[in-house]
Amino acid sequence: MPDMEQAHSRRHAELLVQGGTVLTPNGPEHIDVACADGRIIALGDLHGSWSAETTLDATGLHVLPGVIDSQVHFREPGLTHKEDLESGTRGAVLGGITGIFEMPNTNPLTLWEADLQAKLDAARDRAWCDYALYIGGSDVNAEALPKLERLPGCAGVKVFMGSSFGDLLADEDAVLRRILRNGHRRMAVHAEDEARLRERKALVEASSDVRQHHHWRDVESAFKATRRIVGMAAETDRRLHVLHVSTAEEMAFLAQHKRRVTVEVLPNHLTLHAPECYERLGAFAQQNPPVREQHHQDALWQAIREGVVDVIGSDHAPHTPEEKSRPYPQSPAGMTGVQTLLPLMLNHVNAGRLSLQRLVDLTSAGPQRIFGIEGKGRIALGYDADLTLVDLAARRTISNDWIASRSGWTPYDGMAVTGWPIHTVIRGEVVVRDEQLFGKPRGKTIRFLEVPGENP
Ligand code: DOR
Repeated sequence: MPDMEQAHSRRHAELLVQGGTVLTPNGPEHIDVACADGRIIALGDLHGSWSAETTLDATGLHVLPGVIDSQVHFREPGLTHKEDLESGTRGAVLGGITGIFEMPNTNPLTLWEADLQAKLDAARDRAWCDYALYIGGSDVNAEALPKLERLPGCAGVKVFMGSSFGDLLADEDAVLRRILRNGHRRMAVHAEDEARLRERKALVEASSDVRQHHHWRDVESAFKATRRIVGMAAETDRRLHVLHVSTAEEMAFLAQHKRRVTVEVLPNHLTLHAPECYERLGAFAQQNPPVREQHHQDALWQAIREGVVDVIGSDHAPHTPEEKSRPYPQSPAGMTGVQTLLPLMLNHVNAGRLSLQRLVDLTSAGPQRIFGIEGKGRIALGYDADLTLVDLAARRTISNDWIASRSGWTPYDGMAVTGWPIHTVIRGEVVVRDEQLFGKPRGKTIRFLEVPGENP
């Protein structure tokens, strides 16, 4: 009875990903991935010995650990004409993202447990990918942060040292020290120096010229804030994550502080440069910290090669085309980005600017390592079955039509890229199949190793 014996020895999975090149911790391997109960249960040549309810043919594709975007603004509550948790996470999964960290400059700001809980409630059954939310650190909640940062679903504390969009601001040393002293998780910071920004604002008010944006919010505005906060983090013995580093000067400085400080860069800063972006896109290229000249972009790429950069986040910051069309500087800063993060970075891989392995390090292993994410970020037995399947050879043109954001636009409209996400799998559920949404929103809160708590 050989057939019968074979039937008995066959093992069963809910999902089998077959025939792809899998980016394992050991490098690329031609293996299959079996998933059940949301987790990876077997890796290897599973052909013939496993059956599954769903099979995903990954022939010709690369299977990456689910891509995590640790900086997005999804605007809910209060600003949902720009974005909401459903549309934002829908754009995420269409772009191959399986988990996001969402920012606190919503309305109301995310400052207290009730604000966090309201967002978690809003995300339930509406989020397409997994999520965690930042709590804003400010003068009013500094002493409550040790408790707040440990709430389930909280990604940590985010501080704006310079005002950008919304009312969240902590610019004085005394307040920043209180925030740093209160809590122990890695604190994320937007480092632009508010006093210097105020001093220099007349420059753009006089000219109304978006080509001045990076001269107003100049290198020293960013570098000064970064020096201040790194100094204070050392004094208070706090770990720090410097978001969207945009200058050569900061990178050289941060390379000296890597034991305490982790570093994020954005695809925007790696892809666009001044003044060309402002001439072509006007205020649609306006963001904070600004896109700067080519030599800064070159320094960011060098920092990626030298290992100074830990993660790539999109800083997805949607505003409507009408809002972006207001005369500068009344136009709000920010561009969409969650959906284009991976296509842009795969295009950079194809152009030889970084390896696919390094990309995985920056978008999966990096976030896991620096934030202590539980059970994600690598393709390994027992880990969540979060998989981003990409076709490195697919040529596509990024277009506004493709963008799920309620804001409906991307600065990369019309750009041809090589490399594209094809299927997105979250905890063993296929949510994007052949580039189309599949199933329904099933996102859950991301858990952290340092923070006890169950999924609600
Ligand atoms: O350009 C930006 N826009 N930078 C930020 O830090 C905030 C963001 C937003 O929320 O619009």
